[in-house]
Amino acid sequence: MADTKHRANAPLTRPQFAHESEEEFARLLDFYGIRWEYEPRSFPLEWDETGRVIESFNPDFYLPDVDLYIELTTLKQSLVTRKNRKIRRLRELYPDVRLEIFYGRDYRNLLFKYGLAKGWDSPAPYVKTLAHDIERILFTEAQIQDRVRELGEQISRDYTGKSPLLVSVLKGALYFIADLSRAISIPVAMDFMAITSYGGEKASSGAVRIIKDLDEKITGRNVILVEDIIDTGLTASYLVKNLSARDPASVRICTLLDKSVRRIVQDLPIDYRGFEVPDIFVVGYGLDYRQLYRNLPFIGVLKEEALQRT
Ligand code: IMP
Ligand code: MG
Repeated sequence: MADTKHRANAPLTRPQFAHESEEEFARLLDFYGIRWEYEPRSFPLEWDETGRVIESFNPDFYLPDVDLYIELTTLKQSLVTRKNRKIRRLRELYPDVRLEIFYGRDYRNLLFKYGLAKGWDSPAPYVKTLAHDIERILFTEAQIQDRVRELGEQISRDYTGKSPLLVSVLKGALYFIADLSRAISIPVAMDFMAITSYGGEKASSGAVRIIKDLDEKITGRNVILVEDIIDTGLTASYLVKNLSARDPASVRICTLLDKSVRRIVQDLPIDYRGFEVPDIFVVGYGLDYRQLYRNLPFIGVLKEEALQRT
């Protein structure tokens, strides 16, 4: 049964847009996880004799991560001529300011053209179809890869000379352990478990049964439990107890996502955490809804219609 507590619930506070096209563009930027500011700066272009500004230009958007201003423009000729003159003047007066002009409404293609919506032009067509079910992106492919690299470096430092064993549970942490292990610069081994948790499609009940155990003994090993997401903490807590009973040298937890607001289990120390997530059901990069969406390269929030589909 679908559990409504997990639904996407974060309406973004929006500025008052002058045009509908700007609002549409802002939605698209949100969708691709690109941060933006709306008309944040006014560039003076002309002054009268007293030094008073008599003409200025306010680009529609600023994208802080790429230090780029964007001006949306219709193709109405009367407006274009005046605007073009202003933009020429802006380029003369402020040569260091980066401004791109987006003509027409095909913003999606323009975002790709300017390399802003990375990671979306690459997936297989099948993945593109799945991506249509996404309401918005929480963590882009680039953000995930950067964070995983940092976690790998941290683990490499902490376990120098120790050769830890990465233990992961199929299938959600599959992509994470694959990338994490390659970001670790010391010798590591890997082993896998499979469990069934008795619960709904979107949450576990914490009652866990092991259906595939580890291949190797872990006695005396430094174990790192690699998890996709820790929600209530029931699964991780069961696994830590289970692994600890096998006399390893140590057991630590590394989770990509931490939905800590949902935690039921007290006292579950998390040594490595990729991102904190709000109480929203997320998919992608290994995380599924009814076994789908694992192969999306980003982590996003599903559209309501995709959650309702049977
Ligand atoms: P816990 O025992 O409540 O911590 O549940 C952890 C498991 O629940 C994860 O390994 C996931 O399989 C699943 N889960 C929890 N939240 C999400 C989510 O937002 N998306 C996908 N799976 C989730
Ligand atoms: Mg799952």
